Amino acid sequence: MTNSRKYIFGNWKMAQTLASANGFFKAWNLEARPEVTLAVFPSFVHLWPCRLALETRKLHIDLGAQDISTEIQGAFTGEIAGTMLKELGCSFVLVGHSERRKRAHETNESLKKKLIQAEYAGLTPVFCIGETEAERDAGQVESVLSEQLKAISEFKKLFVVAYEPVWAIGTGRTAQKDEIESVHSFLRKKLSVDIPLLYGGSVNTKNARDILKMANVDGVLVGGASVKPEDFKLIVEAAWG
Ligand code: PGA
Repeated sequence: MTNSRKYIFGNWKMAQTLASANGFFKAWNLEARPEVTLAVFPSFVHLWPCRLALETRKLHIDLGAQDISTEIQGAFTGEIAGTMLKELGCSFVLVGHSERRKRAHETNESLKKKLIQAEYAGLTPVFCIGETEAERDAGQVESVLSEQLKAISEFKKLFVVAYEPVWAIGTGRTAQKDEIESVHSFLRKKLSVDIPLLYGGSVNTKNARDILKMANVDGVLVGGASVKPEDFKLIVEAAWG
């Protein structure tokens, strides 16, 4: 089954300047719809000005962070604790995005620690999973995803899971309908029905509507196409049904 609520999340990565982030909110003129949860994930240093911009403009867009420390507090130079993110007004946090998995050598053990911190701080994790092209070619999609999902198996609380095939991220090569539906149906069988399942990987203004209609797709995690307000607006409208 697919939840009737849709989730449209914009992962701004390291793509916005403070001026362009502010410009995004200035240009945002879409009404909020109760059936759509909308969130953007700015860089850590932009979270506070983004929160102020959202409050000033009375916009119903949730904030999320792109990562979280494995630790609760203390001598961890350069790290950001979940409680700090909560203080800045975050509701969500990406955990295990493939770019973090690769650059920070994240493992199921370190990701579990991040999930504990998210839970402690009251943040909803958006747990990202996905196979590389080589793993897909080797017929290992389900085994790779099953292994990645072991990190969340002990957590019962609120979750969002985003399936983002690594080969589709930032490449313009969106996964095909049958590829998305077969993975999402596999994930739906493994995960409880109330976990929203998002697809990510080269979602854009042209393909969003079709992807959002697919079986077991509850939303999209959008990178490149989420930084321009006019593009992101079209993607949000595609979720309006
Ligand atoms: P993309 O990124 O939409 O630019 O492919 C998606 C993501 O990394 O979350």
